[in-house]
Amino acid sequence: MAERPISPHSRPEEVVVDAALRPRSLTEMIGQDRLRENLSILIQAARARGEALDHVLLYGPPGLGKTSLAHVISNEMGTGLKVTAGPAVERAGDLAAILTNLHQGDILFIDEVHRLGRAVEEVLYPAMEDYALDIVIGKGPSARNIRLKLPRFTIIGATTRLALMTAPLRARFGAVYRFDFYEPEAMEKIVRRAAGLLQVPITPEGVAEIARRGRGTPRVGLRLLRRVRDYAQVKAEGTINTDVAREALTLMEVDELGLDTLDRQVLGRIIRNFDGGPVGLETIAAAISEEPDTIMDVVEPYLLQLGFLDRTPRGRVATRRAYEHLGQPYPERDDQPGLFDRENQ
Ligand SMILES: Nc1ncnc2c1ncn2[C@@H]1O[C@H](COP(=O)(O)OP(=O)(O)OP(=O)(O)O)[C@@H](O)[C@H]1O
Ligand SMILES: [Mg+2]
Repeated sequence: MAERPISPHSRPEEVVVDAALRPRSLTEMIGQDRLRENLSILIQAARARGEALDHVLLYGPPGLGKTSLAHVISNEMGTGLKVTAGPAVERAGDLAAILTNLHQGDILFIDEVHRLGRAVEEVLYPAMEDYALDIVIGKGPSARNIRLKLPRFTIIGATTRLALMTAPLRARFGAVYRFDFYEPEAMEKIVRRAAGLLQVPITPEGVAEIARRGRGTPRVGLRLLRRVRDYAQVKAEGTINTDVAREALTLMEVDELGLDTLDRQVLGRIIRNFDGGPVGLETIAAAISEEPDTIMDVVEPYLLQLGFLDRTPRGRVATRRAYEHLGQPYPERDDQPGLFDRENQ
């Protein structure tokens, strides 16, 4: 997984570069226009009233800028930002310690917010709603409840799996924003801006070539840019043009649409082993020895977006486009895929 060029997850050595490339303000942030507009209104209104921002939930596939946006929001609000993640907050007491250390208006960013434990969530409910912490002091018959007041703060939650969040937690976020894959023009701007910051000589065609294969995901686009830069340095005197970009990306087995070997494997298996589907996610994962989570978070969203895959109640179905992209003949069938009952055969 870590070796895959298209993996949208950060690698440790990328964190420093990522930090340098991160947009710092809403205007510096490229794409996600509707989200930015809504958020800008939310921020301006809160600032005008001198209040803490409402709790914000950000969701969408990995690498689209949720963490970056949390930093942008804190810059725009001029407030402190504390960062944690669902799995890192193990006990209710951990969360209580974090919350009691917040100042008025501070933002607490909770990444992977769907992975908070039950007991921790229960502390979070009154904290988000009433800015209060309910603590039990003592044990047995002498135990009593006390309620600690907390400063007005803002939680920004981020998740790639909205469906795994509990309804009560979701309900406590006043503003919920979805990240979409970036449009080609936005991807080009992002790649161009990064090339400028990294001082990489690149032609407009080179930018377009990399942007097109970045699967609408800034982190992937930026990673491809860095790998192509290496290639250009070693093989082509440093400048990235169409040919250099194509050669480098072909060498990385990233095709014209940004699909890599894992994407093609998933589609190939559905088509060859399961007659195009429908087939369950777990079955696909087992067939190619991959984690179902990886397929669900990384592979599927982009294949769905391309219209290569359909999700039906019976499982995943490869579409005609997927067959065409892989150069496979599409079987003409009278029955509708998805309505066809494989189990009763
Ligand atoms: N709108 C944007 N403009 C420019 N660069 C961006 C934009 N969005 C994201 N990036 C860049 O893409 C990279 C990934 O962004 P980020 O870490 O915020 O994604 P994420 O959604 O938090 O991912 P994950 O779900 O894996 O935590 C960063 O290096 C960031 O600089
Ligand atoms: Mg993140």
